[in-house]
Amino acid sequence: LANGLGRTPPMGWNSWNHFTCQINEKIIRETADALVSSGLSKLGYTYVNIDDCWAELNRDAKGNLVAKNSTFPSGIKALADYVHNKGLKLGIYSDAGYYTCSKLMPGSLGHEFQDAKTFASWGIDYLKYDNCFNDGSKPTDRYRVMTRALMMAGRPIFFSLCEWGDLHPALWGVKVGNSWRTTGDINDSWESMISRADMNEVYAEYARPGGWNDPDMLEVGNGGMTKNEYIVHFSLWALSKAPLLLGCDVRNMTTDIIEIVSNREVIAVNQDSLGVQGKKVRMEGDPEIWAGPLSGYRVAVVLLNRGPWRISITATWDDIGIPPKTVVKARDLWEHKTLNTTFVDKLTATVDPHACKMYVLKPIS
Ligand code: DGJ
Repeated sequence: LANGLGRTPPMGWNSWNHFTCQINEKIIRETADALVSSGLSKLGYTYVNIDDCWAELNRDAKGNLVAKNSTFPSGIKALADYVHNKGLKLGIYSDAGYYTCSKLMPGSLGHEFQDAKTFASWGIDYLKYDNCFNDGSKPTDRYRVMTRALMMAGRPIFFSLCEWGDLHPALWGVKVGNSWRTTGDINDSWESMISRADMNEVYAEYARPGGWNDPDMLEVGNGGMTKNEYIVHFSLWALSKAPLLLGCDVRNMTTDIIEIVSNREVIAVNQDSLGVQGKKVRMEGDPEIWAGPLSGYRVAVVLLNRGPWRISITATWDDIGIPPKTVVKARDLWEHKTLNTTFVDKLTATVDPHACKMYVLKPIS
C-alpha cells in the first residue's frame, strides 16, 4: 500500500503466539521496557503489537470500541503514550467481521470509519486486521473499506491483512495493505514453521517495499524447537523479507534466544534496501537452497538441511543468480566470519540435521 509505510518489513513484537488472550497493560508496558533494555529496539524491533482480546465485548453507547476495563484499565491511549515515550510504536488488532476470532470482542465490519478514527485518536501506528465471523462477502471488498478508513483517519497506520492466505492475498494485497498473511496460523514446531515458509515462498514475486508476504509471526523463544531449528526459522523469515515480529515473552529470553533474534547481519538481509524476497531455488529431498538478491549485487543464500542426517550441500552460481566465473567472498552470518578462501561457480558446506548455513556472497571480480 502506498502510504509510505513498510518500505522494509516491519519489526517488533506481537502478543498472540506467547500470551494468546492472557494479556493486560502491564505485560504490554513491560514488553516495551524489555525491548529497550535488551537492545532489541535499537536493532529495529519497534512495533509493540497488541493482538486479540484487548476490548470489551460491547461497544459504548456511541458505538465506540472500549478497552477491556479489567485488563487495560488505563486505556489504549495511555499505553500508546507510554510506548511512544520509549521511541516505540503501538499496534492494535481488529477483524473484518462481526467478532474477532476469540469472539470476546467486536470486529470492525460496518464500523470501519469509526474504528479507524478511534485508533488514530489513540495514537495507533499499526493495525492487524483478522478475518473471523465475517459476512461471507469478498475479503478484498471488506479489507478495502478499512484501507479507505485508515486513509481518512489522519494518521499513518501500517495495515496488516490477516486473511490466512485462502484467497491468495499476495495477488491483491499490494493495493490494500502493507503486508498479508499467506498461511494459516503457525505453531511452535518444526513442521509448522517449515510448512509456513514453503507456502509463503511461492508468492515471492509479489513482495516489494510497501507490501510484504507474511508467513505469520515468529515462534523463536517459545520452547518448542531446538536452537538450530530456531536459527532456521529466523534465517528463512529474514531471507523471505517476512515481518520480524517476535512472538515470545521478551521479558524472559535466554541468552541463546537473544543471540538469535539480535543477529544484526541476518536482520540486515531482511531490511536490505532492494526489498526483493528470497525463495527456494533448488530442492532435492532433504537439502534445499534458498537465495535472493541484495543491494550492491550481493546475494543472500541459505543452505537448509530438512532431514535427520548431517549432509553436504552445494549452491551453484547458476541456481542463485550469479553470472558464471564470478569470484565471490562469502560471509557466514551465523559464525560472523568472512571465509578465508574465495569461491567461483559454487559454494559447499556441511549442514547439521534441521539446521542451516546462511551467507552473503559479494562479487569481487
Ligand atoms: C487468527 C490469527 O491468524 C492469529 O494470528 C491471531 O490473531 C488470532 N486469530 C487471534 O484470535
